[in-house]
Amino acid sequence: MNPIKFNEAKFDLVTQDLKKWQGREEWFFNREHTDTYEQWYEGRYKRAEVWQKKIIGRLVKKDERVKTLLEFGCGTTRFTRWWHEIGIDSSGADISPFMLGQGVHLFTGELVLADSHYMPFKDNTFDALAFVTTFEYYKDPVKVIQEAARVGKNGIVFGMMNRNSPKVVRRRVQEVFGKNPFYLTANFYSPKTLIAVIEKALKGRSYKIEWTTTGLPKWFPVQEWNQPYGDFFGLYVRLND
Ligand SMILES: C[S@@+](CC[C@H](N)C(=O)[O-])C[C@H]1O[C@@H](n2cnc3c(N)ncnc32)[C@H](O)[C@@H]1O
Repeated sequence: MNPIKFNEAKFDLVTQDLKKWQGREEWFFNREHTDTYEQWYEGRYKRAEVWQKKIIGRLVKKDERVKTLLEFGCGTTRFTRWWHEIGIDSSGADISPFMLGQGVHLFTGELVLADSHYMPFKDNTFDALAFVTTFEYYKDPVKVIQEAARVGKNGIVFGMMNRNSPKVVRRRVQEVFGKNPFYLTANFYSPKTLIAVIEKALKGRSYKIEWTTTGLPKWFPVQEWNQPYGDFFGLYVRLND
């Protein structure tokens, strides 16, 4: 039998031209942006992250069945490595080799290069699925939720930018002037619009939803509440069947 011949030059780990995902320019396929992602989070975004973890952590921990979790769109693993701190054994998956390339040095658990629309896992592999600031980028959100409810046994955790926030307007204006590449392809949800997608995806299933918002101004008397306003919200779908 003839050995298969291939041109080794074509098998670079990541080609220099890989800048697009699904035919679109995406910041997470551009090292100019991915290489500085962790630094950006360590800067003025730090305070916001503390509150995001607080609300997401509380929502998930209410479901005592959740001991293992797969985080899709895990990026450089900022949240993936934190789940361990709250007693949840986590793994991560992401479509960007550039984000995961950093994640492997920062996280000791398992990481997979995969698309959220086609999760390469058997049914009920994890207790829960998580999406943190990634769901905004999905082309077919209904399919992604159905995949999450297939691979995750007990629940689905969401953490994302809230559409009901003055920052959304600021971002869109910045984009028009070419100043902000991060949300060009993003679709912003509010708790209400996300719930509408969940209802479509989980028709016929038995579940309960709970959500909290945060990202309120520093001077505001509370930093989290159950009103649909604030920069960020966490939402948990508890699967009951
Ligand atoms: C804003 S980053 C969030 C990363 C991380 N969850 C965090 O909070 O730091 C969005 C991530 O979603 C990933 N992503 C976008 N579309 C995806 C898809 N279809 N499947 C898997 N990951 C995807 C990107 O590669 C990127 O790492």
